[in-house]
Amino acid sequence: MLVASNRGPVSYEIQEDGSLRSKRGGGGLVSALSAIGPDARALWVCSALSDGDREAVRRGAGEDGVRMLDVPADVHADAYNGIANSVLWFVHHMLYQTPLEPVFDAEFRRQWASYEAFNRAFAEALAEEAAEGAAVLVQDYHLTLVPGMLRELRPDVRISHFSHTPWAPVEYFRMLPDDIAGQVLRGMLGADRLGFLTRRWADAFTACCEALAGGLGETVVGVHGLGADADFLRKRSREADVDERMAALREQIGEGRKVVVRVDRTELSKNIVRGLLAYRRLLADRPEWRERVVHVAFAYPSRQDLEVYRDYTAEVRRVAESVNEEFGTAGWTPVVLHVQDDFARSLAAYRLADVALVNPIRDGMNLVAKEVPVVSDAGCALVLSREAGAYEELGEDAFVVNPYDVTGTAEALHEALSLPDGERAERSKRLAAAATALPPARWFLDQLEALRG
Ligand code: G6P
Repeated sequence: MLVASNRGPVSYEIQEDGSLRSKRGGGGLVSALSAIGPDARALWVCSALSDGDREAVRRGAGEDGVRMLDVPADVHADAYNGIANSVLWFVHHMLYQTPLEPVFDAEFRRQWASYEAFNRAFAEALAEEAAEGAAVLVQDYHLTLVPGMLRELRPDVRISHFSHTPWAPVEYFRMLPDDIAGQVLRGMLGADRLGFLTRRWADAFTACCEALAGGLGETVVGVHGLGADADFLRKRSREADVDERMAALREQIGEGRKVVVRVDRTELSKNIVRGLLAYRRLLADRPEWRERVVHVAFAYPSRQDLEVYRDYTAEVRRVAESVNEEFGTAGWTPVVLHVQDDFARSLAAYRLADVALVNPIRDGMNLVAKEVPVVSDAGCALVLSREAGAYEELGEDAFVVNPYDVTGTAEALHEALSLPDGERAERSKRLAAAATALPPARWFLDQLEALRG
């Protein structure tokens, strides 16, 4: 079995004495594979992303079971920053709004050639590594062309592709130049099976194929709704470093206050700014909450090579500060914002949460929505965007919002905060049960079994 993704399960750092230190990555896929254990006999093909990764490739020092591809830095930058995160991410999350418009010029064409080269490097490495009839599981929008390319090189292997993002509706997807849209669809249709996180994204993909590529052909489309890893989360969130961070957060929050938690990477699709504006609306329209609630907002900088992501990160900070300036008092900081990524602190915030705010413009699934109810000590209420994949499974017990509607989101926060303790705990239990229905290991095995037929 082979897995292919841009970001791999491990990364390396060069130490002062020149040695390499490895660090395991997070995320559902990594935990799914490690949950399956050493029997999996998998090879993971991924990009060398850091100086340490590239050094590990040069020294041939990588871990067993991982092959890093040292694609030239400019090719990777074009493919990753230029195409995957600036174009494909924006299309599938429907983020183009004036003045953020797609520009399909000569520069785009040059970057697209890099995206093709990047995908080809993966296809060739996989073709080289795969045993006769092997199962190859390709991940995400960085690698949409790989299934088609690999199919040509190795007709014997079984190929799947999984999308961890939404899929754009056909009217939006065909914003891409026709030849590019066709290439993406045909690339994906090189797979035997395609996986999506929800029925909605799978149907959108199918509609794109019917409209633009003459249908799905032989390819089977399946839905696998990745769930939270309850065992891991419950255990990890009880460790000492989480307790320490809870104590520090409690200090910042103050006694007897309700806590609204959000944890996101600073991606425009996460809608963090509107979340902060909704919280400001709550404080403005319902003064009874002043001094009685704190919004713990973790916004971890993501993809900072790109100006639009940097600007967004800065705006998040600005709006958080302005809410504090407007409403803060000597003994109360309305928004506690942290931007330094710290998993233990995220878990500490989950434990303290009375309300989780998850309001993306669009999101493939959103695991935070699934994780907080599992971890929170006293049970949490969930304010959830109807545009998150998690809505399909959690919608019934959540306070569902239209992510563009700031006033509606403020009202949902009020209702969630007003929920009596007993009812909140009951709802949280039901949310946690739904959120953990398909744990990562099962999610992964289902796909593997389906692929092997
Ligand atoms: C989000 C998406 C994934 C994607 C990942 C890439 O988590 O949900 O679909 O693979 O971002 O993140 P990166 O930091 O590698 O750009």
